[in-house]
Formats: sequence, C-alpha cells, structure tokens
Amino acid sequence: MALQPYLLNEMQKIAEQQPLSAHTPGHKNGLFLPTQLKELWGEQFAAYDFTELPNLDNLHFSEGCLAQSQQQVADFFGAAHSYYLVNGTTAGLQAAIMASCYQQEVFVPRHVHRSIYHSLILAQAKPIYLPVSIDDETSLPLGLDPVVLDEYIQRYPQCKRLIMVHPTYQGLTWQNKACFTLAKEHQLTIIVDEAHGSHLHFNHNLPPSALELGGDLVVQSWHKTLPVLTQGSVLHVSKNYQGPNLAPYLSLLQTTSPSYLLMASLEVGGIEMMENGESTIETSLYNIIYLHQQIYQSLENIYLLWQPDWQQDPFKLYLYSQVLNGAELEKQLREQFAIYPEMHDNNGCLIMLPLNLTNDYVEQLLQALTVIDQQIANLEPVAYLPNFYTASLPKEVVPLSKAFYAAKKTILWQEAAGRVAGQFILRYPPGIPMLVPGELIEPELLTAWVNAGGDLNEKLLVLVKGV
Ligand SMILES: Cc1ncc(COP(=O)(O)O)c(C=O)c1O
Repeated sequence: MALQPYLLNEMQKIAEQQPLSAHTPGHKNGLFLPTQLKELWGEQFAAYDFTELPNLDNLHFSEGCLAQSQQQVADFFGAAHSYYLVNGTTAGLQAAIMASCYQQEVFVPRHVHRSIYHSLILAQAKPIYLPVSIDDETSLPLGLDPVVLDEYIQRYPQCKRLIMVHPTYQGLTWQNKACFTLAKEHQLTIIVDEAHGSHLHFNHNLPPSALELGGDLVVQSWHKTLPVLTQGSVLHVSKNYQGPNLAPYLSLLQTTSPSYLLMASLEVGGIEMMENGESTIETSLYNIIYLHQQIYQSLENIYLLWQPDWQQDPFKLYLYSQVLNGAELEKQLREQFAIYPEMHDNNGCLIMLPLNLTNDYVEQLLQALTVIDQQIANLEPVAYLPNFYTASLPKEVVPLSKAFYAAKKTILWQEAAGRVAGQFILRYPPGIPMLVPGELIEPELLTAWVNAGGDLNEKLLVLVKGV
C-alpha cells in the first residue's frame, strides 16, 4: 500500500477551514506574528503550527493519525514500534537508557556523546567503561574493538547491556558489525546511538544500519541527515527487545506541547526517504565517487580521510592538511566561500554532504577546495596536535550519578591536577567528554586541555570532597 501522510492530511483539513484559533499557540495560526518574522518567513508556516486539536492525536497517548504515522515507519524499518521524538536523539537515548538500564550495569564505550552520560545519570546506571581504539595519525576514535568487548564480557559476565555508537560523528562504523554479533551471542541488550546514521537503512551500498545488525533500542537523529527540521528524531524498538515499554519514559521526558511542524516534518521527511531514499542515495554515491577522485587527483595540500576497512559513511568528508589546522581550513571555507562545515577539530574539518548530492554542489565544493589548495601551496607545515579524545580510561573516584549531585566548588584549571572533576570536561563539538564528574584530573589532562585550545586561567568545577 502507498505510504500515507496521515498527520499532514489531518493538519491540511483543518488549515483549509481557515479556522479562528481560540487556543494555543499565541500567534493564533499567524494572526499575531512579529513583523520581522512575517517579512522573513512569510505567514504560511504559522497556519500549520497547531496544537492537539480534534483529529490531530496526542504524541503522549497516540491512537489516531500519529499512531498510524509512527507505525508506518516501524513497518518500513522492521521494528516493533517507532516513536517520533521532538527533543532530538537526546530524549530517545534518555528514555532508552532509563527504561533498560535503571540501576543496572551497562558496558559503555568511552567515545559516547555527552547525552549518553546524561542518560546514565538519569537512570542511576552503573557504567562499565570500555576503552576505544584511536587512530594514531588523526587521533580520531575508531570505535570499540571486538577483542576488547570480548575481554570485558568475560570479565563481567553479569553485565547484560551494551551501548553502541553507530556510526561515529566522523561516519566510522569500523568493527561495529563484529561487536553487534558478539553482543547478540551473549544475549546483551544493545542500545544504539545512531544519531548520525538515520540514512544507512535506505541503501545497501552504505554500511549496515543498527537495526540490521541487531540493535534492540535504536535512536536516530533524522534531523541530522534526512530532510527533517532540527530536533526531529526517531526511537525504534526492535522486535527482539524484551525490556519495559518505552512510552512512559518518553512521556516523562518530552514536552506536553510537541511541535506539529516538527512532527509533520518527521512524517513527510520519512515518506520522502521511504519512497525515494534508495535511488536518491544511489545517484549521490556516483557523485561522491567523482568527488573523491577529484580530491585525490587535483588537490596537493588537502587530503580526504578514507580508509576502506573503516566502513565509513561516504556522506561524511573529513578533510585535513599538513599546512592548515582544522580551524584554519574551516575558516577559509567559511570566510572565502560561505561554505559552513559541520565542525572542525585540531587537525581536520568535517563536511556533511546532502543525501541528494547534485553536480552543482560537488562543483561548488571542489572549486573552493581547489582555490584554497593553491593558496596554501607554499606554507610551512603546522604542528600536529592530538585531538581531545582519550584511549585510556580515567580513574573513577566517585560514581557518576553520585558525583553529579555532590557539592562542588570553582577553581582555575591551573590548580586542577589531582582534583576530582565536578563537571563534564569536553570540547564542543564533538561533545565527547574526556572526563566526567567523579573522575580524577591527571596532570596530563591539563596539557590536552591547552592543546585543544583551552586556557589554564579558565574556571572549572571540582568536587569539594574527594582527592
Ligand atoms: C553522536 C551523537 N549522539 C547523540 C547526539 C544527540 O543528538 P540530538 O542533537 O539529536 O539530541 C549527538 C548530537 O550532536 C551526537 O553527535
């Protein structure tokens, strides 16, 4: 059966009545909009910014058009349930971890995004951290090594939960497939942060998606890669998942005023992908092959990070140079060509390509890179600085969920060695903490902090008690 925009159809029926709004939101379907917004955005969008009117269902107790819309997604992904999220993947991870890990042990690879640590606090979970492999050349996290996972499973046979990141921010899935297989063999419940991999399911030439690999609870930021408004995400519950129902957790965490614009954008963004995603991605993959060839052949000072055995997402381009650091490369693209990369770190910058990659887009990017490549031809190499990720596991002095609530005080970074962190210590992006509350600040961390652009005169929170 053809896919249906169940929610959008109901919204359209109401909008066509040109109703007099006597309910929230205060702009009354666009009657009371600030002039600046009207001038810049027009009024039309506001006519669809509804609340829970009759026939528009309720995200927290869905049984009408929203239930049908979400079920359509679940059927396509082969999941038992799929839930629309209006507070990004953050809300989905919180709900998934609270539901499946409450006061339980869980394996957590150390390159997870901070939203997972926040979820561990909410769930009062007992994380068993796993060291991840870091690439020597770029100091980027590759992911979890299955040999390491196996070791930990043997050492902690009572732990029955695992969190996976699939793919990483830079698009690496590396040895994740083997980790999923191993975890399944040991009947672990796998909670997956697939924030950057919503598109993987739509084309078999991309690395396999988390649901295909056997993830139990999978959270995807549709807004990051699919044609969906910011904050729109989806939580899939696989048919194998046996833990508590997710709905009460989502209801606890999400707003009672979910944006209908956002939910409609999730619905039709999903339909666009379910109907045309495979062919759209297929066409783009040809353009990506051409783009890679041109980067290799035409550029002498800017390189592309592409390792076939890293199982990379081709829609992510991590570019780096020996004569420009990541911040400089990002700045040149932005200031000279109004190209805004997703992020940069010490050594490179990350371009997220659109799923409908056109020739024009490729040419615009190549033109900019070619000009920069020539401009930097005679520069001296810059000093290599490792990125703000760590392979070693920090020493935990106070458990995370206790440390989060413990008394803290502010000190300067220069006095921090030997103290216990009272806050997350990270650079943003990528938002991956080097240290979390309750962990020991070793002297080496001060050097890493400075290398990552931090200042020893900045303040930070440490625990009052503790070392
Ligand atoms: C790896 C990873 N996980 C989770 C998140 C949180 O996703 P969201 O912004 O959709 O809440 C992010 C956001 O940047 C992320 O990069």
